Parts: sequence; C-alpha cells; structure tokens
Amino acid sequence: MAKGLGEQNREWYARYKDDVKKEGKAFFPRAMLHDTIMGIVVVGVIIGLAVIWFYDADGTEAGVLGPWYEDPAEPGTTDFIPRPDWYFYFLFYLLRIFEWPETVVIATVGIPTILLMLLIGLPFYDRRRERRPSRRPVAMVAAVLTVLSMGVLTYKGATAEETLGSTLIADGVPNEWAEKQGFVGNQKAEAGAELFAATGCLQCHIYLGLGAGNLGAPDLSEIGQTNDVAYFVQYLSNPARFGNTVMGSYSYLGQENLAALGAFLEASKGGEEPDSR
Ligand code: HEC
Repeated sequence: MAKGLGEQNREWYARYKDDVKKEGKAFFPRAMLHDTIMGIVVVGVIIGLAVIWFYDADGTEAGVLGPWYEDPAEPGTTDFIPRPDWYFYFLFYLLRIFEWPETVVIATVGIPTILLMLLIGLPFYDRRRERRPSRRPVAMVAAVLTVLSMGVLTYKGATAEETLGSTLIADGVPNEWAEKQGFVGNQKAEAGAELFAATGCLQCHIYLGLGAGNLGAPDLSEIGQTNDVAYFVQYLSNPARFGNTVMGSYSYLGQENLAALGAFLEASKGGEEPDSR
C-alpha cells in the first residue's frame, strides 16, 4: 500500500528532526563563529587591497592595482561613445538586438523583470523536494540556458564594434565600405564615406552591419538603390522638411561636403551578394 503524501511528509520531518538532534551543530556559537571569522577575513582582504593600492600608486604612475585617480571628466567631448561596465554588457547587447522604439521596452524592462519575477517566485512554484540535478531536467536546462545566453550576450557586448568616428577612420573602415560597395576610385563617394564615419551618422543608422538602429533610423547600406545625390543633399540639409524630426540638419557641413555624403549614399547599393560568383 502506498502511503499518503501527508503521512510520508510527517515521516520525513520526524527523521529530519532526529538527524538534527543526533548530528546537528548548534547555531550559537558554532555557525556564528564561522560567520564572524569569514566576515573579518573579507574585510581584511579589502583593507589589505586598499593599503597596497594606496602605497603602490603614487600621484601620476599607476600601481599594480590601478591608477591613483582617473583623468577628470571632459563634459564638452562629442568623440565619446558611452559603454557600460562589463557586467552590464549583456543588457547593453540586448538593447542592440531589439528595434527602436516598438520593442525596446521588452529589452530594458520586459525580459529582466520577467526573469526576476521567475526567480523570486521559484520557492512558490517549485515545491518538490528533489534536489538531485539529474532529476530536475527543467530547472537544469533553464539554468544552463541562462548562463549560456548571458555569457554569449556579454561576449557580444564586449566585442561590439565601436562606432567612434576617429576609430573607424583609423581602422580604414571607409575604405572597406568602398570596396564592398564597389565605389573605389569614386573620390567624392570616398570622401563622403569618411564624412559619414566622422559625423556620427552611425549613432543612429546601421551601415553594412556597423552602427546602431536607434530612434527608428533605417539601415542605409542599400539606400542608393532608391534615391540620388540631389535628393540626399536636400534631405541632409533639412530632414524636417521630409518629416524627419529626429535627425538634425547637416547644412552646417556646407554644400561640398553634403554633395560628397550624397555621392556616398548614392553609391551605397548594398554591395556584392555574399555568394554571387
Ligand atoms: C539622431 C539620429 C540620427 C542621426 C545622427 C542621423 N540620422 Fe539619418 N535618419 C534618422 C531617422 C530616425 C531617419 C528616418 C526618418 C523617417 O523615416 O522619417 C533617418 C533617415 C535618413 C535618411 C533617409 C532614408 C530614406 O529611406 O529616405 C537618410 C539618407 C539619412 N537619414 C542619412 C543620414 C546621414 C548621412 C547622417 C549623418 C550625416 C544621418 N542620417 C544621421 C536618424 C538619424
């Protein structure tokens, strides 16, 4: 005859109480002593590291534990892309995956909140006694998937391409664009490519996989298929006239630069097909 669940539970509980009495260790003083020792060790390590840092880094030179102080912040800079600390790379990358603006809320609030609620609710919805990993396939798969996806997102976030204009140009990215799009030798378009990298268009737009799809800005890799220089020059001088109130006017660049940007955009037809030969 199978025992009822209630009876079985009471039996287990009695056995547990019995074990505690026979083999258990008292919370006071044993566990408290352990906690106290561990607490002192942790605080001691922190103080030790602070002392090493303090005496090893002098004024200007960085010591083994880092510099004395970082450079003061420069509030006027435009040549700076904010990046999060490494432990936020996964969130940072999540933001890149989702499209502005419809689904951004999912990345910033939705997914993290749902996961947090699931974690907080765990003791309430998983009330089985089973502890062995091999008997908890759902929990194990969920845990492995969480660690894996956070790892991958962190890696992707850490290696995500910078769209800093000066870095792009130093890395020869505009030349790569010219090769991929097949406008090598078109001097106007080449000048436009550098301007495009330098002027921060990639803060909002995506171009051949670089940049960010922010604020609803379209991917411009194939924009040359639909419009020509004249249109682009007009568009860039006054985006608001075309109903684009997000993008500022670039008329300050002057007609020559605008024409170069226009030539670049016109020459951007999407590049070679990956496997057309
Ligand atoms: C602050 C974000 C932002 C920046 C910076 C920005 N854009 Fe835009 N751009 C947009 C948005 C948003 C749209 C789409 C507007 C719409 O659909 O009405 C757009 C549209 C365009 C279009 C029209 C695309 C089409 O389908 O007609 C072109 C061309 C363009 N941008 C070029 C540029 C260039 C070149 C630069 C840099 C000099 C630049 N943008 C910088 C946000 C930006």
